[in-house]
Amino acid sequence: MSSSTHHTIGVVGAGTMGRGIVQLFVQAGHRICCFDAADGAAAKAIDFVTDMLQRQVAKGRLTGHDVERLRARMQASTQMSELADCDIVIEAIVEDLAVKQQLYRALEDVVAPTAILASNTSSLTVADIAAACSRPERVAGLHFFNPVPLMKVAEVIAAVRTSAATTETLRALVEGAGHRAVVTADQPGFLVNHAGRGLYTEGLRIVEEQVASPAEVDDILREAAGFRMGPFELLDLTGLDVSSKVMASIYEQFQHEPRFRPSSLVAPRVAAGLFGRKSGAGWYAYDGDRKLRDAPRAVPPLPPGLTVWVDPAASQRESLMALVEAAGAKVVDEPGADALLVLQPWGIDATAAAVARGLDATRCVAVDPAPGLGLHRTLMLTVATARGMRDAALALFTHDGVAATVIGDSPGFVVQRVLATIVNIACHIAQRGIASVPDIEDAVRLGLGYPQGPLAWGDALGGARVLEILRAMQAATGDPRYRPSAWLVRRVSLGLSLRTAEAKR
Ligand SMILES: NC(=O)c1ccc[n+]([C@@H]2O[C@H](COP(=O)([O-])OP(=O)(O)OC[C@H]3O[C@@H](n4cnc5c(N)ncnc54)[C@H](O)[C@@H]3O)[C@@H](O)[C@H]2O)c1
Repeated sequence: MSSSTHHTIGVVGAGTMGRGIVQLFVQAGHRICCFDAADGAAAKAIDFVTDMLQRQVAKGRLTGHDVERLRARMQASTQMSELADCDIVIEAIVEDLAVKQQLYRALEDVVAPTAILASNTSSLTVADIAAACSRPERVAGLHFFNPVPLMKVAEVIAAVRTSAATTETLRALVEGAGHRAVVTADQPGFLVNHAGRGLYTEGLRIVEEQVASPAEVDDILREAAGFRMGPFELLDLTGLDVSSKVMASIYEQFQHEPRFRPSSLVAPRVAAGLFGRKSGAGWYAYDGDRKLRDAPRAVPPLPPGLTVWVDPAASQRESLMALVEAAGAKVVDEPGADALLVLQPWGIDATAAAVARGLDATRCVAVDPAPGLGLHRTLMLTVATARGMRDAALALFTHDGVAATVIGDSPGFVVQRVLATIVNIACHIAQRGIASVPDIEDAVRLGLGYPQGPLAWGDALGGARVLEILRAMQAATGDPRYRPSAWLVRRVSLGLSLRTAEAKR
């Protein structure tokens, strides 16, 4: 790195995030001046970071000499006036607009008129913070994720009056430290927390409708769709007291956009103190850090002489028939009077699929075609499916050792509903120009840990399929939350990838 890209960075607020930010930028070659209002907090933060650096010596990544050199570049300040030499100040104090505004006013009296002021706020509007400043063009958001050194992405939030030069300096600063900088508009949830809404809202909606339990939704999404954690595990980790406020605030800030409508399941659980891990009980019960699970339900034996009819329209008909035969059941060509009837609908519920085909709903079971049959299988019942047929289907589709979950009737299975929702929200983010396509994709992968970017995921599923699921969900529920984004509709109608940017005007 050339000396011209070395900055003197002020970090104000030496808590969880401030410490991570200090570590990231001192290791990237910058001088750091750390200030905190609490007595001794800044010095403690420098000691903490030095300790983290020492651990890298133990791992052979740094030498003792490196640590001494880095230590000499970090200064703990007890007076805000000591930030006078900083050309960039990153603020990570308490999430309170009035307190932040007061700090920014004071900072403007200390730093040079050209210094950049960046806030790590998660939920405030950056323009509200900048409104306290006489030079709002030098104020931006710089949103890191916890733990900062390991979460390799940061959002550079360009508020309405932020100058292009400010955004560019922050982008280069982040990239110079080896993190991916994504540039996003000053909109609710910015990019990552906006794109991450769908997993929670749709997971909660599925539970609300009694389609599956929280643990079943988590299992299906982890094992069939490749999420690292399901929505209910994540809510328990973050704490429902904290998450419920984020859900409500994003909904309010988006002027009651139905896509972000919070679930009424949440408030009574918050009132009851079911916050998650930290309170010992949430969607799951905990023994210390260990999540307690109900014992798995016993799989019934395969009934002798079972005959199975597989819908000719099923997208994985051949594989389903092979599974049936491998399990020792007999495939039949006609629905007949006693065969188990297997369907694979997209976007519609099992009852509607049975009625559309004129089938006996008491014998119908639907298998989710979305994730592929090699992974966790989701079996959906009609409202009338007979217990014996449910048991036979479960025995049949777990016979080769692959796990399966039986869910209640739902327009769209768990994976279909959740992925279509996530893809649709990402399409809408792109349509609104909140961020560029590559930035949306990388922010979601790196910030949320999803296995792919949401638009690439939509392409893998098939844009037309995603649109079909959303339209069917909207028709079945009448809920405008499922209305497809124009971004999705237009690209599907032209057969284009969902990652296709708008034409240049
Ligand atoms: N914790 C996270 O996971 C996370 C993630 C992204 C963004 N954020 C955001 O980062 C900011 C900081 O969060 P945190 O979790 O590090 O908080 P924290 O409570 O761990 O640390 C905040 C620090 O700021 C200091 N402080 C408070 N008011 C101050 C003032 N007026 N002047 C100077 N110092 C002051 C406190 O003494 C404390 O040391 C918040 O805006 C938060 O929304 C947090």
